[in-house]
Amino acid sequence: MRNFLLSLVLSGICLHAQAQSLDAPGLMSAFQKAGLTSFATALGKVNGTKPGQDMMAALVNGNNYTVYAPNNAAFDAPAVASVSNNPQLLAQVLSYHVVPGYFVNSTQGNASLACAVLPSVTVAHTLLTDGTLVDLEGNNAQVVAWTRNDMTSNSTIYFLNQKPEVTVLTTMAVGHILVATISNVLMPPGSFDKVAAANNLTSLNGIVDMVAVPSFFPNGTNATVEQALEANRTQGYTFFAPDDAALKNAQSTLTGLVNNQTALLALLSNHYINGTTYYSPQLDSSSSNFVSAAGQSLTFNANSSGTYITSANGASAKIIKTDVLTDRGVIHIVDHVLVNLNRDDAKAMSAYQSATSAAAQRPTQTGPIGASSTSSSGGSTGGGGHGTKNTAIAMGVASAGGAVAVGALGWILFMGLVVG
Ligand SMILES: *[C@@H]1O[C@H](CO)[C@@H](O)[C@H](O)[C@H]1NC(C)=O
Ligand SMILES: *[C@@H]1O[C@H](CO)[C@@H](O)[C@H](O)[C@H]1NC(C)=O
Ligand SMILES: *[C@@H]1O[C@H](CO)[C@@H](O)[C@H](O)[C@H]1NC(C)=O
Ligand SMILES: *[C@@H]1O[C@H](CO)[C@@H](O)[C@H](O)[C@H]1NC(C)=O
Ligand SMILES: *[C@@H]1O[C@H](CO)[C@@H](O)[C@H](O)[C@H]1NC(C)=O
Ligand SMILES: *[C@@H]1O[C@H](CO)[C@@H](O)[C@H](O)[C@H]1NC(C)=O
Ligand SMILES: *[C@@H]1O[C@H](CO)[C@@H](O)[C@H](O)[C@H]1NC(C)=O
Ligand SMILES: *[C@@H]1O[C@H](CO)[C@@H](O)[C@H](O)[C@H]1NC(C)=O
Ligand SMILES: *[C@@H]1O[C@H](CO)[C@@H](O)[C@H](O)[C@H]1NC(C)=O
Repeated sequence: MRNFLLSLVLSGICLHAQAQSLDAPGLMSAFQKAGLTSFATALGKVNGTKPGQDMMAALVNGNNYTVYAPNNAAFDAPAVASVSNNPQLLAQVLSYHVVPGYFVNSTQGNASLACAVLPSVTVAHTLLTDGTLVDLEGNNAQVVAWTRNDMTSNSTIYFLNQKPEVTVLTTMAVGHILVATISNVLMPPGSFDKVAAANNLTSLNGIVDMVAVPSFFPNGTNATVEQALEANRTQGYTFFAPDDAALKNAQSTLTGLVNNQTALLALLSNHYINGTTYYSPQLDSSSSNFVSAAGQSLTFNANSSGTYITSANGASAKIIKTDVLTDRGVIHIVDHVLVNLNRDDAKAMSAYQSATSAAAQRPTQTGPIGASSTSSSGGSTGGGGHGTKNTAIAMGVASAGGAVAVGALGWILFMGLVVG
């Protein structure tokens, strides 16, 4: 009844009558009519779980949402079967498909999904907040990131970080919900080491596992940098990850530091921001708020050849792949090691503390993250980012094959020097 009244009110206010609110049965039958029968069945299956109920309550609360609805074939994939048999997990995975806000590209039609064009990416929060799958600062919900390669009408919209690839097939308005049918189920991102491995960051994965963060654990023992990044008390980070080729190129510097844990920790700490997850649309050249976990400022600038990060001592690198999502933050892959061994612990601590308190106060965002217009109507075209074309980013992992081979060799040499 409440929803019925609400929908009357809404249709009275919005004369274009797009925001017709549906109740749960109405929504389910709309999904079924659209041929999304497996998706509707999945929503029914999670009806008995708390995250499932929360998700359905949200979808019928009269606010705008964008829902990524996997088609029937997507639910037949073997990897999805094990999720489908676990209602609690299924509910969490489905809540990763619901994005607050109406992500419509109004210049392209009333049911056209708003989407950035590479090198820009549209990033938005979902409803996934469960602590076993996501632990971002301020208990922020996990994000999804999507983009397209160019503006042509046959340029497919796809999601970053999904294997198998997930593409948008069709979009339609279902009451106050924009429904985009997708080719596969979206899986929430995993931990640092798994995500790094999936992105061929083999050498970095080895190094973060070797460098100690003294007395990190409450019982006073050391953690490795990897353990620190994956620890429960770590909520939010932005890691600028040198790829294997970058680490290979910095090999002589690194081997000189092999016996100096203090220096290696400073070096690694200058590659991440502790306590804040900054997605690519937020790496803004006009802001001076970026401070590494070693207390060194980081600046960003974009030009026609790409987006660059520069550390306080001038060490600089180009971002070659953005928005590699993890359960506790994000990784942006860079093409050089930022060789800065300086640290300012007081500055690092204060940056971390202000990040933590800012995160606690931040309201839920219902538009694209970091876009200039973030009104709750979500009517923005979802751009953001730095409008400059970057072919290296456009190709995703530039020259991945070669980099892996060379990087692996570099890692073996490096390990040899460490061990020997
Ligand atoms: C969920 O279950 C409740 C009670 O069993 C029912 O009223 C409601 O319609 C169901 N919702 C969906 C989406 O199946
Ligand atoms: C979207 O636009 C089409 C044609 O312009 C129109 O037929 C349709 O009713 C519109 N849908 C909504 C939900 O406004
Ligand atoms: C970390 O937090 C998760 C979710 O709250 C919990 O399931 C897990 O047991 C915690 N791990 C440790 C080591 O405390
Ligand atoms: C902990 O780390 C410190 C500094 O890197 C090191 O000196 C110490 O030996 C480490 N402790 C253990 C038990 O490994
Ligand atoms: C200290 O805590 C860490 C993390 O909880 C644990 O892995 C380690 O075994 C503990 N060490 C000791 C000596 O209790
Ligand atoms: C280790 O590196 C730090 C930071 O660069 C430096 O201050 C220190 O002197 C080095 N220690 C040794 C033993 O070389
Ligand atoms: C872009 O900026 C980077 C870093 O400041 C610089 O190295 C590069 O030469 C610039 N490229 C162009 C085309 O201006
Ligand atoms: C983040 O900063 C806090 C406060 O300075 C520190 O205790 C913690 O170890 C840091 N975490 C990481 C992963 O660097
Ligand atoms: C929902 O989205 C439509 C279309 O963008 C907008 O006109 C309307 O104001 C939004 N409603 C709410 C409650 O945000």
